[in-house]
Amino acid sequence: MEHTRIKQLLIAEDFGQEVIVKGWVRTFRNNQFIAINDGSTLNNIQAVVDFENTDEQLLRRVTTGAAVRVKGELVQSLGKGQRVEIKVNELTILGDSDPEKYPLQPKKHSLEFLREIAHLRFRTGTFNAIFKVRNALAFAVHQFFNDRDFVYMHTPIVTGSDAEGAGEMFRVTTIDFDNVPRNEDGTVNYKEDFFGKSTNLTVSGQLEGELAAMALGNIYTFGPTFRAENSNTTRHLAEFWMIEPEMAFYELEDNMDLAEELLKYVINYALKNCPDEIAFLSNRLLEEEKSKPQSERSEMNLVDKLQFVLTNDFERVTYTDAIEILKRSKPNQKKQFKYLIEEWGADLQSEHERYLVEKHFKKPVILTDYPREIKSFYMKQNEPDAQGRHTVRAMDILFPGIGEMVGGSQREENLEKLLARMAEVGIPEHEIDWFLDTRRFGSAPHSGFGVGFERLVLFTTGMSNIRDVIPFPRTPKNAEF
Ligand code: 4AD
Ligand code: MG
Repeated sequence: MEHTRIKQLLIAEDFGQEVIVKGWVRTFRNNQFIAINDGSTLNNIQAVVDFENTDEQLLRRVTTGAAVRVKGELVQSLGKGQRVEIKVNELTILGDSDPEKYPLQPKKHSLEFLREIAHLRFRTGTFNAIFKVRNALAFAVHQFFNDRDFVYMHTPIVTGSDAEGAGEMFRVTTIDFDNVPRNEDGTVNYKEDFFGKSTNLTVSGQLEGELAAMALGNIYTFGPTFRAENSNTTRHLAEFWMIEPEMAFYELEDNMDLAEELLKYVINYALKNCPDEIAFLSNRLLEEEKSKPQSERSEMNLVDKLQFVLTNDFERVTYTDAIEILKRSKPNQKKQFKYLIEEWGADLQSEHERYLVEKHFKKPVILTDYPREIKSFYMKQNEPDAQGRHTVRAMDILFPGIGEMVGGSQREENLEKLLARMAEVGIPEHEIDWFLDTRRFGSAPHSGFGVGFERLVLFTTGMSNIRDVIPFPRTPKNAEF
């Protein structure tokens, strides 16, 4: 490779060496100073052109967004805020960028606008920082599990099962492109199947993961999952990545311990390995906060927020106790938390979750033992309580500003109890016979959970819309590229 990446050059000590840099022009000032960025760092390197001895035609092509190669001497910089710069001997334009058409201006652009220009969104500092943090978190997930002897397991994207029993699935259809069947009105007649079988895009790798865990012990999946819920919120995507560990011989408490340890480990890893990116995002957040009225501003900056999570135990509360807290709470005057009176049995709305996390406990909360009726069929059933109410060994982890970050449970290992529950909710035995084998041959206590990876990135970057932490968001109106 003939060029050096800018991240390396910015910390280089050997001034006077000849270097080659390749990158994209951020700005070009006074026909002399080119700020170049190559994506390796948030910072630009300044290349100083001897404009009196450089072809005018060539200089005119140094426009924002153009790809350039510069060769020159690495020198100490006299300019403010930079240690090094390049005294250019050779300037080459690798790819022009028409200034009449280039959509980014040297000012702040709205995140909504940037979402529409998928390519150039990556060229902004904000998205450079976000995707570096996303990368660090993903790497840390693998490191965490690898250090603990978990096996990374790939589970299928196309599947015949509805793992959550929630029915929010995208159907897979096949089409023979050489011989497209047409309806009478000329529209395409899709064959509604996958080679004769009805399938969908997976909502979770859990059920397949359970098979592997009940043989290998500890496994995890980390892959894309799909939900056809038509919800246009800042917390939902139609395609999102989920981290799903599954552990044989783990009970609910072990499950909670592992989830808390994982979240703290990966957030700490990002803090340690992306200090510049997180500082950049923290500043961005401070600027954003300034436009809000004083009363709505967050008291903590991003780094403090992350540190706070690392240094405090998550609060562990049962659903039943949480309902009591919600019943006792008084709606505040600003009506921010308006629906506080809840009856036992109801699913918690995001207002309730936010009240518990942000107002009552003021830290991440693990809610356990939810009513059986509002949770998935595979969760381990508790003995009914004194009032005959049925709960399951579920756990959800709620985070400030995010809501549900993790959903998991101990699994029902008893075949009879599982079959009875399946019959109640209408899941035919033959549909998941392959799964029921886990309860037939050496069944044992086991547990697992799913972390919504984008929600984790959202929290760690301090961004407010989930669409801004995934490179290509899939939402109801967004699937063209
Ligand atoms: O609570 P969920 O639906 O749980 C499961 O799928 C279990 N099978 C996991 C397991 O036990 N192995 O989803 C898990 C997490 C949620 O807590 C949330 O963080 C995230 O996945 N999630 C979404 N993230 C973005 N967009 C969506 N539409 C999401 N739906 C769930
Ligand atoms: Mg859930």
